[in-house]
Amino acid sequence: MPLFRERHDYKHRPAARWEDGRFIPPHHLPIERSVGEWDRIDWLRYIRASAQNPLCGMTRISIEEHDAIVHSQGYDFLVPTKPETLREVFVEKVDALRHSDIRNAILKPALREGLVTSEGDRWKHDRRALAPVFTPRRIDTLAGAIDRATQDIIPALLAKDEVAIDDVMVELTYGVLSRALFSGQLEEGRDISLREIDRFLNTMGRPDPVDFVDVPQWIPRVTRVGRMGPVKRLRRYISEMVEVRRTQEGEPRDDLLSAMLAEDAFTEEQLQDQLITFIAAGHETTSRALTWLFYLLSQDKNAYERLEAEIDALDTSAPAAEWKTHLPFTRACFDEALRLYPPAPFLSRQLDRDETLAGTPLKKDTIVFCNIWLVHRHRLLWDQPDAFVPERFLEENQRKTPIDRFQYIPFGLGPRVCIGVRFAVLEALIMIVRLAKTYRFELAGEHPWPHARVTVRPEETLRMRVVRR
Ligand code: HEM
Repeated sequence: MPLFRERHDYKHRPAARWEDGRFIPPHHLPIERSVGEWDRIDWLRYIRASAQNPLCGMTRISIEEHDAIVHSQGYDFLVPTKPETLREVFVEKVDALRHSDIRNAILKPALREGLVTSEGDRWKHDRRALAPVFTPRRIDTLAGAIDRATQDIIPALLAKDEVAIDDVMVELTYGVLSRALFSGQLEEGRDISLREIDRFLNTMGRPDPVDFVDVPQWIPRVTRVGRMGPVKRLRRYISEMVEVRRTQEGEPRDDLLSAMLAEDAFTEEQLQDQLITFIAAGHETTSRALTWLFYLLSQDKNAYERLEAEIDALDTSAPAAEWKTHLPFTRACFDEALRLYPPAPFLSRQLDRDETLAGTPLKKDTIVFCNIWLVHRHRLLWDQPDAFVPERFLEENQRKTPIDRFQYIPFGLGPRVCIGVRFAVLEALIMIVRLAKTYRFELAGEHPWPHARVTVRPEETLRMRVVRR
């Protein structure tokens, strides 16, 4: 049995540092020994540490070599990292996969049959029905409303000298999404609390121990008792709002709900599932991306100044949908923040039949665990993988060092790629412009430690000083 001190120390937290002129934010070190060498105690420690924070589960072998296949403790896992394998799994042989049992156990109680959780014919029908709602043209028409909402919401959120930037970003993205989805009608005259919804969405990402064994969904999970309240209330509000919309005379509102109603493809229940899904999938992801971006910028003065200069030169009287063409460096910074901190870091599937993947015959029920964090920092795919290097995403550099479509996957890949990607990028750029034009953020406390629930967030609240430029 290996000596205790030789085992991986999950509590070890390397400090932030600079290397070759680049900022490297703090992150877990990979586990030295490979899974095959673990004994039972290693497994127990590993399971305990990963239940706390799944990001600590990376092994050195999985980040230095491709496509780890692990047979252990009665489970078979494929951890695909090679772009060719990712394409094989998520595009070419996607019909061999279903969502994993653990993913369903975590997400289904709240999202039911929304687009994130549905499968088979239900999903095919819904994805097709929602496609016209999310076309680039349709999304671009929301740019003006997103910009107005952003400008309305920001001043109150940044009125203090120091703020919890993660909370600020959640409030901002929730407010903006709510306007884009429902013209803000959800909040009007209702006791809907963002805090409650947010708390629920975060506990939703913590698997209950019961989820790991095969126990039916109707058996109550101790960790979720009392937490469905906000979701039930949200369902009720949404259904009231939809009812009013359906009976309303006159011009339809210019928001995503009107676009969905125009498709006339969903029952009342299905509409609720889809709208709750958009709130869940759409606001926290973008808010985390912005939180990490401003943290990274606060450390890299050169990048921050370059981004500010680009934004200062932007003509904000032009339509907001057109801004993106004038913001290559800002976009590169956003892309790099999504690489280092992919907000939705895990794509978890299971094989529905025996199938050969990555050249290896695998049995039905094998777990395919795509760890986007790992792909985005893989030693065989990236130079300076742990460093903040936004320039790598600039067009001129991509011509020299191309980034494969399947090595950079913050929005997922294949037919189940994020339907909201266009919306997310549009709103993020508008928010970055409005924030960086007037404010600068400086780290006020400790460096944030990345922590994965449904999204990757700072483990503790991230305090930042707000300086008016
Ligand atoms: C930075 C922001 C965002 C990130 C990083 C992100 C990431 C992702 C990822 C990785 C997936 C694939 C999940 C899987 O295959 O298991 C996904 C799916 C999805 N996302 Fe996003 N997302 C973002 C914003 C949004 C927004 C704004 C919306 C809606 C308004 C949205 C709605 C969805 C939906 C409905 C799906 C399920 C698609 C399907 O399975 O057909 N997302 N997203």
